Amino acid sequence: MSFYAGRKSIRKVPGAVIKAAPLPKPQITEGFGARENVGKICKEAGYGSALLVTDQTLFGLGLHQKVADSLEECGIPYTIFHEIDSEPTVDIVEAGRKAAVDCGADCIVALGGGSVLDSSKIIAASAKHPHIAVKHFLHKFALVNGGTLPMINVPSTAGTGAECTVGAVVKNSRGVKNSTVIIGLEVPHVILDSELIVNAPKSVTVWCAIDALSHGLEGLLADVSSKKEDIFKSRECVRLVFENLPILLEDPHDTDARQATLLAAHYGGNAINTQLAGYVHAFAHSIGALYHIPHGKAIAWCLVPIVEAQENLRYKQLAELAVHCRIAEAGDEETAAADKLICALKELLDRCGLEKGCPPIRQSDYKKLTRMIDADSINYSPSRTFTDNEVRMLLDQIRRGY
Ligand SMILES: [Fe+2]
Repeated sequence: MSFYAGRKSIRKVPGAVIKAAPLPKPQITEGFGARENVGKICKEAGYGSALLVTDQTLFGLGLHQKVADSLEECGIPYTIFHEIDSEPTVDIVEAGRKAAVDCGADCIVALGGGSVLDSSKIIAASAKHPHIAVKHFLHKFALVNGGTLPMINVPSTAGTGAECTVGAVVKNSRGVKNSTVIIGLEVPHVILDSELIVNAPKSVTVWCAIDALSHGLEGLLADVSSKKEDIFKSRECVRLVFENLPILLEDPHDTDARQATLLAAHYGGNAINTQLAGYVHAFAHSIGALYHIPHGKAIAWCLVPIVEAQENLRYKQLAELAVHCRIAEAGDEETAAADKLICALKELLDRCGLEKGCPPIRQSDYKKLTRMIDADSINYSPSRTFTDNEVRMLLDQIRRGY
């Protein structure tokens, strides 16, 4: 059997597998400065001590202080571990696990972006089983008997949705990025605090928001049976970005719009958990890895060509999304409504300043990229399986621009 035939035959497997995985159902606390509620949340939950995990940048800026003060005020002993960097390794996670065990933490407070949140998930899993080496929690699936330590997650970016996703990426001892699905991840609480992102640079704001939008959009395009609640959240994810990103392009300090993008990212995380990503991510992961392009920017370049390539199989989903986002009328023809959504997406990317075409892509790399994209695509349940020839044509479109 060819690799294409193999990929095609297992296309629906990832979508079926995720139905069996237990997912976190966090309670959400929202608002500017909302992280000052961490102490109260810990006290009400009966946690006796906490490990506060963050990165060197947030720690240096003092953005952890409100969390620390709230723990202090509520009489919760805590230890701060601020050694996480942008590419966390198994050694850093091991040090975090040791900090958690040494201070007798019975909960993990994770304050940061995807790297902090992902590392903290492995810390929360491994601290529950201190006799098992951390590397054993980096397998493709990590089953944590009895669940992880409970986590209170406070994202400092509005993009990945990592505060609720069950996946975690950490480098193993050979320096290779390991993607793990943690079965038994306990996230009883998420805090969406716009104060943490209100001063984010434009490029971070824009490409994180586009990444969030892509999670909701790809979730809706996936060939996965979804609950109404999850479909609603994915649609809301897209609507919130369409409505609030233009506001932030005009006024980056609009805290309501900032708050809305945090919620969009959170709903995007729900989409990843319940519907999975898709080809936009398979292309963006591969292009991003080969040319060192930030994830959200790579997503932005891939979005339109890859959504258009699936449009004829997903008119209904795109049309319903367009109506939900008030981009189309309920009475519009499906194809017309779907086209309006794609036009609105092109306009939004233009307003964000996305360059036409992805200059770093080289035709001489197509073979390598196609292999990478094919390999990554088996993690998802897309509406269809692209042949290698179709992948090359899409790479051409992404390289030249639409
Ligand atoms: Fe993403």
